[in-house]
Amino acid sequence: MKHIIAPSILSANFLNLEKDISMINNSDAQWLHVDIMDGVFVPNISFGMNIVSQIKEACEKPLDVHLMIVNPDKFLLDFKKAGANILTVHQEACPHLHRTISAIRNFDMKPGVAINPHTPVSLLEDIISEIDLVCIMSVNPGFGGQNFIENTFHKVAKLKELILRKNADTLIEIDGGVNLNNYKRLIQNGADVLVAGNTVFGALNPQETINELAKPVVK
Ligand code: DX5
Ligand code: ZN
Repeated sequence: MKHIIAPSILSANFLNLEKDISMINNSDAQWLHVDIMDGVFVPNISFGMNIVSQIKEACEKPLDVHLMIVNPDKFLLDFKKAGANILTVHQEACPHLHRTISAIRNFDMKPGVAINPHTPVSLLEDIISEIDLVCIMSVNPGFGGQNFIENTFHKVAKLKELILRKNADTLIEIDGGVNLNNYKRLIQNGADVLVAGNTVFGALNPQETINELAKPVVK
């Protein structure tokens, strides 16, 4: 499978979201990554469902919504109504992860689980076959533009091993600090989806940068 690029709207210009979304529509990006932060699970607040609904109206690509919030169960249906296609919750925020995953699927979204840099992939052993995506955080969640944590390369390879061993078809997503220097090695180690915020929106030509990241990588 060719890898997927999911630009992160967090790094876009919110005064002119329509322009950035139309750039994404015209690019080789396959998904749009949407970060929801509550100021409790992470030390930052982003935006809520209202903005997600408006993004949905303009965006022609599936919305990959990443919830960095406590008690995500309370809001699953709201994010469905706002237009989420993939809904990712944090392992660290869900004491009853299996129940949360089942609820996301029942609301007809694809469930994903994100893990913080300190969380081992082995914790996903008993849930991996039930989820569509694992999001490996390659920075501590909360902000765009942070430096990539090198241990992620090792984590991707370990997760790939687990997925193959369980005969699952779960996608591996990498979120945080993805750039033109590290993306090839991430794909070679087993990543399927790359989130990119600063690398895309901080570039002189964001659309060309997306298309560059989306080019096939020799494995
Ligand atoms: C971080 C967010 C990321 C962020 C990535 O907490 O989950 O999705 O937008 O931004 P970059 O690519 O700039 O690290
Ligand atoms: Zn994210």
